[in-house]
Amino acid sequence: MQNAGIATLGLNWCYIAHEVHPDHLRDAIQGAKAMKYMGLNLTVPHKLLAMEMVDVLDESARIWGAVNTIRFEAQDLDGQWKPLVHFGDSIPEKIRTRGFNTDADAITRSLREDLGMNLAGAKVLLLGAGGAGRVAALKLAAEKVAELYLVNRTSSKAEIIAAEIKRLFPQIRVAVGYPAGSIDLVLNATSLGLRPGDASPLDEKKFSLRNASAAYDMIYRPAETPFLKAAKEAGCRVANGLGMLLYQGAKALEIWTGQKAPVEVMRAALVKNIY
Ligand code: ATR
Repeated sequence: MQNAGIATLGLNWCYIAHEVHPDHLRDAIQGAKAMKYMGLNLTVPHKLLAMEMVDVLDESARIWGAVNTIRFEAQDLDGQWKPLVHFGDSIPEKIRTRGFNTDADAITRSLREDLGMNLAGAKVLLLGAGGAGRVAALKLAAEKVAELYLVNRTSSKAEIIAAEIKRLFPQIRVAVGYPAGSIDLVLNATSLGLRPGDASPLDEKKFSLRNASAAYDMIYRPAETPFLKAAKEAGCRVANGLGMLLYQGAKALEIWTGQKAPVEVMRAALVKNIY
């Protein structure tokens, strides 16, 4: 995905994956800095650790408490910190790291663009209260959904998120448990569906998918989980989490290059490589 985007932008860069032990994360970031990398993406378990390791935290990382994108920056002649892309072939001596989070915005962008959701005023049932579920819940609240129902195997975790939302967004109706009436969106943020034979994250005895207009599964592999299949059969509009993966990457590319990411080229590369 990134290499397809980089090629389309005409940059002489490449995107490569490194496996890094958590104990070596600081060294890995410093090493990339020394080798004039433009930026990095980080994934589990590095996103939280990196919060302490970057020189500057962008607001996106501060809000979500996790760093999935690092940009290397240097000072221009006026003393302004700029992305390394501004410095051409020169090798700045002093480089700093800025940490961003592009995951949270990717959730709502995918809901809007891949599922056609209008989130303001929507009624949403969110399944899952782990790391991804918490970010989704807060992000949906920030987008001013009207009603949010939280369901999780361990309901105490849903209660904690509900309390957090009540405190930060008092105008939103938030409840732990299944809704009684119809809703606009059911969103799966649990890991159920990743493995063959997984049960559905939704208890259809307590909520029928016929009462939902749209369903989204954060899982993108398999492309169609049993949950999404059931939702489609019940007549819901559906989308899987491929868009989340795409948009977090597209935003990262924009952060490094300062250019608009060629999203459809990147989507095609992603689909080709993961299915
Ligand atoms: P992530 O960062 O992907 O959110 P996580 O924090 O481990 O990962 O959260 C996994 C989510 O899937 C949680 O909501 C978890 O429910 P619990 O909070 O009760 O653990 C849910 N989940 C995982 N396996 C599950 C299962 N077998 N049945 C129901 N829910 C499950």
